Amino acid sequence: MSENISIERADHVVTIRMSRPDKKNALTGAMYTRMTEATRSSILDDSVRAIMLAGAGGVFTSGNDLRDFGDSPPVNADSPVFQFLQTISTCPKPIVAAVSGLAIGIGTTMLLHCDLVVADPNARFSLPFINLGLVPEAGSSLILSRMLGHAKASELLLLGDVFDASSAERFGIVNKLSAPGAADVEAMAWATTLAAKAPVAMRLTKALLKSETGGLSARMAEESVHFVSQLQGPEFREALRAFMEKRAPSFG
Ligand code: COA
Repeated sequence: MSENISIERADHVVTIRMSRPDKKNALTGAMYTRMTEATRSSILDDSVRAIMLAGAGGVFTSGNDLRDFGDSPPVNADSPVFQFLQTISTCPKPIVAAVSGLAIGIGTTMLLHCDLVVADPNARFSLPFINLGLVPEAGSSLILSRMLGHAKASELLLLGDVFDASSAERFGIVNKLSAPGAADVEAMAWATTLAAKAPVAMRLTKALLKSETGGLSARMAEESVHFVSQLQGPEFREALRAFMEKRAPSFG
């Protein structure tokens, strides 16, 4: 299934592209594993100075593949989804994201671990975990509270509604809105700019910027325990059935 992730190289920038447009780039375990491998090899390769995350077909990603989650749910921190999140959250090299179309669930939470995010003005974001009987991941319960305060973070995580690109920019999840259809090009321009900066200073600056993230890995571990147990429970089972039957879930 690694053909659903394409890896592109342009000078000192590696682009990791989610490429499963018929499923809105929904992410399977195999895709997370490929993305983790590509990120790790980019970290080890001195000639790579910046990483770009993007999606194919005008969509970033519709988040975790719900069927794959039902068939082979993550069971612990070694599971592909948590390995991927751990890898990008500790990546010493700059990551730029280009968001078009949809950024659902992990499609939004992975942005909290990127350094610069460019979004198409038509992009839509959501954190629908609650609607699926799940809990937030990627440390988003901590990061969003710190970024936005308790009230706004609660609104996003307890209601799970869709929000638009201008709101994402206002919240600080997105750095800038591109010209329509130009998120990839503008994100690549930023990645190329970052790749030309002094690499040691870049690594140190990123580490300094992230030094205030105390408690993040503990929170990610705590979230993953609840996430794994909710995935195996009746609430997610009902949400998955509802998704497959194209109806709203009923949690009684
Ligand atoms: N997991 C599994 N399959 C998904 C998916 C996901 N997260 N997102 C989309 N797909 C599949 C759809 O089932 C559909 O498959 P099919 O053609 O075999 O029926 C295909 O991708 C196209 O999606 P569709 O729903 O027809 O497109 P749409 O434009 O009407 O809606 C979404 C797109 C993303 C809004 C809708 O598919 C959706 O809500 N997906 C679930 C998002 C989600 O909850 N993600 C998990 C977050 S933890």
